[in-house]
Amino acid sequence: MLDKLKEIEKSALESLAAITDQTALDSWRVANVGRSSPLMQVFAGFGKLSKEEKPVVGAEANRVKGTLESALEEKSKEVKNAALAKSLEEEKLDVTLPGRSVNIGRLHPSTQQLRRVLAILAEMGFQVYTSREVETDEMNFQMLNFPPDHPARDMQDTFFIEANGRGDNPILMRTHTSPGQIHAMREYAATNPQDPPPIRIALPGMCFRYEQITARSEIQFNQVEGLAIGKNITFADLKGTIADFVRRMFGEGARLRFRASYFPFTEPSAEVDVECFVCGGKGCQVCKNSGWLEILGCGMVHPVVLQNGGYDPKIYSGFAWGMGPERQLMLRNKINDIRYFWGNDVRFLEQF
Ligand code: DAH
Repeated sequence: MLDKLKEIEKSALESLAAITDQTALDSWRVANVGRSSPLMQVFAGFGKLSKEEKPVVGAEANRVKGTLESALEEKSKEVKNAALAKSLEEEKLDVTLPGRSVNIGRLHPSTQQLRRVLAILAEMGFQVYTSREVETDEMNFQMLNFPPDHPARDMQDTFFIEANGRGDNPILMRTHTSPGQIHAMREYAATNPQDPPPIRIALPGMCFRYEQITARSEIQFNQVEGLAIGKNITFADLKGTIADFVRRMFGEGARLRFRASYFPFTEPSAEVDVECFVCGGKGCQVCKNSGWLEILGCGMVHPVVLQNGGYDPKIYSGFAWGMGPERQLMLRNKINDIRYFWGNDVRFLEQF
């Protein structure tokens, strides 16, 4: 029995010496000092020993147990230290390395352009008036002199939200910012119905059209509407205001022209072109060889519209326009596909 204990001690210490990691050490513990280890078997078989053997074997077994336990403790420290040294070596932290730079957010290019437009108009005395995106047919069309089956409605294919039981007045997404003219005129007129105050406002916001999405047309886009109402306002005021805006927006030397056009809510109506930025007027793909790029529609507010807004057309006159910030940005920055605006591709957005 004493020889057996010697043998147990020898082989246990030998296998312990070879151990370098915690997992192996845990298995060693189970195998050599655990409950079913050969050493513990000796203790378990104690009862079968003779009276003379018991004290001798007992003392020796306790000694071996003590030796193995302290060897285990020693080894355990060694393994832990080695693991610590290893992780210190491998996980070196270089506090002098430069940090990773943080991506800085920015305003969407449309918002940037919208703000440029509104800043210029503010300098010219136009206050911002915001109006709703969900409208009724009455406000989006009828009050603006489009009767229910007027062919000009085809120019603005419409997203309808609710039509059931609303007859000729379904709820829809506004197709242009022009219904804001009616809201604004009525609000201003209500402050003094007998002698309504003059108006000089810019109405920015998102518009929606039921269109096939292509490089040239989107189902949503911003517009900035302008509206000036007062006594003795003439087409000359409209021309001067637009010309001033174009020079502030596109540069002192920018050339522009007015071209007769048609809108139900203005009379007379015009469209404004600026000289092509790309070819300088010589003719190119962007301007389709005309040398000009259309930037807005405008006109003198139609008497019916003034009336609908609460302004007597015999006393008041005014002008209005509607322009598109995305379109301006496309012309200015030679962007050839309007889908980039809402495509959310950071490679596009990052350039602004
Ligand atoms: N509402 C027109 C559109 O969306 C743009 C427009 C044209 C607005 C002439 C106006 C205007 O105020 O006078 O196509």
